[in-house]
Order: sequence, then structure tokens, then C-alpha cells
Amino acid sequence: MTLFAADTIGLHYPGRPGPVFHDLSLTIRKGESLGLSGPSGTGKTSLMRVIAGLERPTSGRIPIRPRRIGMAFAEPRLLPRLSAMENLSFIAPKARAEGRAMLTALKMAALQDASADSLSKGQAQRVALIRALLIRPEILLLDEALGGLDMATWQSARDLILARRDRDGFALVEISHDPARRIMPEARAISFP
Ligand SMILES: Nc1ncnc2c1ncn2[C@@H]1O[C@H](COP(=O)(O)OP(=O)(O)O)[C@@H](O)[C@H]1O
Ligand SMILES: [Mg+2]
Repeated sequence: MTLFAADTIGLHYPGRPGPVFHDLSLTIRKGESLGLSGPSGTGKTSLMRVIAGLERPTSGRIPIRPRRIGMAFAEPRLLPRLSAMENLSFIAPKARAEGRAMLTALKMAALQDASADSLSKGQAQRVALIRALLIRPEILLLDEALGGLDMATWQSARDLILARRDRDGFALVEISHDPARRIMPEARAISFP
């Protein structure tokens, strides 16, 4: 089953000398994984934003889009006044137990009632990851989303993502600067530029 299809798309930001990418065709199927790699400033995040529907390509077509997308970016963007748990129940009110179990798996149980703006970046990134997983996405987009984690915690996050992927069957698109920190190192990759 195809979840996302782009047909010869291009993206040209106004005021920029040339397009960030052009003539790009891409299909993402259920359960597939994809890595985006390349130097900073080459368009990886821009493509992810197009996949997420946050950015409209300036040429080409997107005939197929997923219904549910889970996203986590380097900047966690939690609701700052709400606690870690409230950030989860806000988007998935019927899945509190599931949210709590994932907080425990990522060593965040003791901080479930801490306000989001009191969390460190790595702690907030864990909450943002759980939030993305809780909506049971068809596609999970990770844009340098786990860069604030130490190796042991990163491994717990990877194990959680892989376990949920086995269960829910989502497609995974990831950007990571560190090859040792790819969730799916063997996945198909698109290299930028
Ligand atoms: N909203 C925007 N408006 C104008 N230019 C942008 C915008 N977002 C990104 N860019 C530019 O597009 C290029 C690619 O950026 P980005 O997709 O963030 O790259 P990467 O994620 O690979 O670092 C950069 O030159 C960046 O400055
Ligand atoms: Mg980027």
C-alpha cells in the first residue's frame, strides 16, 4: 500500500536563487524505511516538511498522502505550560496508560508531572517522540529528533520505535547526522544535494 507519492516535485523558496530540489519523485509504502542524508542546508528538512504537508511544492504533484503522520523534530515543541503527561493526553486522551508505559520505557516516569518548560532538551525530545508514536502514525518522520540523548537512552528510544513499528507497521523517514545513530541503518537512502 502506497502511503505517499510525489511526482517530479520541486521546491523553490521565494527570494532564493534556485530551487532547494527539483524533479524529485518518491514513493513511500507501508512499513518502508527511508533515510535522508547530506550536509546541512541541502534540503532534507524541506523535503520532510513537504511529506508532512507543512510545505507545498512549487512544481510537480503529490497524488497520495497519508492520513496520519507522526513527526518529531530536533526542536521538541511541547506545550510549555503542560506537564509531560498532559502533553501526551492532550493529543491522545484515551491512551494515558500507553503514554505512561512509554514514558517508563524511556526513563521519564519520575518526570511525568514536570512541566514541559522545565525539561532538558533530551527529556523533551523523549516526550515529543512518544507524542508522535501515540497517534499511531502511518508514517513517522524523525528529523534529528533524538540528538539530545546519551547513547544508552538513544538505544532505549530506538528499541521503542522498532517495537512500535513491528506492532503498528508505520513507515519511517529519518534524518540523522550521525551514521551510528540511524534507527534503520540498512534503509534506502536519498542523498542531498
Ligand atoms: N522557510 C524557508 N524560507 C526560505 N528558505 C528556506 C526556508 N527553509 C529552508 N530554507 C533554505 O532552504 C535550504 C535547505 O534548508 P533545509 O531544508 O532546512 O536543509 P537541511 O535540513 O538539509 O539542513 C537552506 O538554504 C535554507 O536556508
Ligand atoms: Mg534540517
